[in-house]
Amino acid sequence: MSSIQTIQVHTAPAYAVSIGGGLLHTCGPLLRESLGLCHVAVITDSNVAPLYLGTVTSSLQTAGFAVSSYVFPAGEARKNFDTLSGILEFLAEERLTRTDCIVALGGGVTGDMAGFAAGCYLRGIRCVQLPTTLLSAVDSSVGGKTAIDLKAGKNLAGVFLQPAAVLCDTDCLASLPPEVFADGAAEAIKTGVLCDESLFSLFESGHLETDPAQVIARCVAYKAGVVERDEKEQGERRLLNLGHTVGHAIEKCSGYSIPHGHAVAAGLVIIARASEHLGWTEEPIAARIAACLAKNGLPTGTDYTADALANAASADKKRAGGDITLVIPRKIGACELRKMPVAELLPVITAGLEV
Ligand code: GLY
Repeated sequence: MSSIQTIQVHTAPAYAVSIGGGLLHTCGPLLRESLGLCHVAVITDSNVAPLYLGTVTSSLQTAGFAVSSYVFPAGEARKNFDTLSGILEFLAEERLTRTDCIVALGGGVTGDMAGFAAGCYLRGIRCVQLPTTLLSAVDSSVGGKTAIDLKAGKNLAGVFLQPAAVLCDTDCLASLPPEVFADGAAEAIKTGVLCDESLFSLFESGHLETDPAQVIARCVAYKAGVVERDEKEQGERRLLNLGHTVGHAIEKCSGYSIPHGHAVAAGLVIIARASEHLGWTEEPIAARIAACLAKNGLPTGTDYTADALANAASADKKRAGGDITLVIPRKIGACELRKMPVAELLPVITAGLEV
């Protein structure tokens, strides 16, 4: 097994994010140490189950856990009430109790939905995240946001539930199709734009695949600090939504056929371009961000109109009353929050679509 890095997240309760190779094989003994023996329900999707469910189940059973598993059809379009309800009914049929635990095995959709099920089943049981995609490793498995999508928009129902542990097995990254890997690269590039120009430069030079564990550790360490200071997204945590207001609008306009990371990539370019046109940046950044995203196999724009995007974004949960808070990149490595009336979204997005 390669060396394992561990990052502590000091929320209440605190938890560890372990990053390295071979962790799915050793999840049983590791979780026995951190959780104690209990009944575990592994929730996963139809893409991930054939790859890793056997490994995880066998490691957990060998360590002494009672294990049940639930597999739902893969895809963001399944991140809805029907799937959530199926998971909750399953947990009840399997008679999980308050001392038991859910294990979310998969990408962002699985982590969000299994986490939500854990947050509301019996008014809350523990959830462990086993991210298998780069996107869930660098972002969604850490920080306790859980959700499903509603017809009106993305992630509109959910709870905050910090995981009991996160085990990120970097060996899983090798099995990812390039476009799924690129999805995670978008969130890591976002982190670079937020706080870490050298991380951004790693993606500009295209050298990411040589050491993804380092990239994951840097993204998780930054996110852990933000979440510790602002767990429920009352202030600083909103910065993590860079590119997401327009990104979520693109996802919604596409009926969730455009993957999250791809939509966020386009959203990043649009907000960077808008910020430049509106004089909010300290230096030209949009072309540099677009080039970096393109180098990593990501889109840099969208065919949806400013009207369609502004309309979709106006249902975004970052809205508060008649205002919305956008994350504005000032330069690579520094961003700020800007609150504005929802009516200003249309001119901002229009500016972002101008080349
Ligand atoms: N994905 C943004 C957050 O966790 O706050």
